[in-house]
Amino acid sequence: MKEKLEALREKALKELEGLDSLQKLRDFQVRYLGRKGELKTLLKSMGKLPSEERPLVGQLANRIKDFIEEAIADRERVLRAREEERRLEAERIDVTLPGRGPELGGVHPLTRVLREMEEVFISMGFQVAQGPEIETDYYNFEALNIPPNHPARDMQDTFYIEGGLLLRTHTSPVQIRVMERFRPPIRIIAPGKVYRRDADVSHTPMFHQVEGLLVDEVTTFADLKGVLEEFALRLFGPRTRVRFRPSYFPFTEPSAEMDIGCVMCEGEGCRVCKGSGWLEILGCGMVDPAVYSFVDYDPEAYRGFAFGLGVERIAMLKYRIDDIRLFFENDLRFLRQFL
Ligand code: FA5
Ligand code: MG
Repeated sequence: MKEKLEALREKALKELEGLDSLQKLRDFQVRYLGRKGELKTLLKSMGKLPSEERPLVGQLANRIKDFIEEAIADRERVLRAREEERRLEAERIDVTLPGRGPELGGVHPLTRVLREMEEVFISMGFQVAQGPEIETDYYNFEALNIPPNHPARDMQDTFYIEGGLLLRTHTSPVQIRVMERFRPPIRIIAPGKVYRRDADVSHTPMFHQVEGLLVDEVTTFADLKGVLEEFALRLFGPRTRVRFRPSYFPFTEPSAEMDIGCVMCEGEGCRVCKGSGWLEILGCGMVDPAVYSFVDYDPEAYRGFAFGLGVERIAMLKYRIDDIRLFFENDLRFLRQFL
């Protein structure tokens, strides 16, 4: 009997070491010390022992029971500690690691130049207007005094869409849309995308223009020159030289183009200005009275001027970029220079 009890103790101890979860520990406890457990089962055969041996065996059985209970408690402490450690490991946050902040994007150079241009005109009292990129022939050409078969239509290779629609070739149709809705005084700029069948180092099929329109009772060519000269000085610096050359647009009369002194060679003559020392940045002129007839303005009562700037052209000069396509390739090595 004594040997059997000792053997039970040894077996229990060995098994206990291999238990790796609290659940298994509970099962173990029931299996050894429970009412139908191994120890109880063993003690049932105590009745067969001679009566003088019973107290001794009973004491031994109790000691073994205490011993196993203690061992279970020890094991439980170990398992609990291990579990706690595992939990802490899994939930660990290393607060000394540097944070992973959101990556900062940058404003595209064209957007930047566009905003700068808008700011200059807004500070002079212009408001920002908008028009659709898909236009009708009427707004893009006819109301701008460019009738069907007019040779000026060839100047702007047009993308035509079904249903008599087209992608606007310039921002000038916004002039018509604004004049249809409002009476003078009018002082707006209209920035936006325009489209032409055109592609080389200085032309892309989509590019941006900023239209300007000012109509009032007394407006002169001197006002036009003053506004555009101020714009050029604000954008390119106070030492910038400007000049106006006669030009032609069907919707302005007289018409002109404005040049600025070449920013690369400062007038010496170089590859960019093709040796002339000057660079064209915009077309402009006094609004042709023929245009007023399309929007029901009295040509005797109002005078106005309009202008159209190429945004890419301005950006190329400002940042000394010699290929317009760089703006649209979205090469990060190029774009990061402007952050
Ligand atoms: C016009 O588009 C006229 N609507 C401008 C105007 C407005 C004149 C109001 C008078 C009154 P033009 O076709 O020249 O004009 O274009 C104006 C500017 O757009 C040019 O100076 C040039 O900088 C830019 N541009 C023209 N075609 C392209 C192109 N394919 N890619 C990039 N920029 C272009
Ligand atoms: Mg031109």
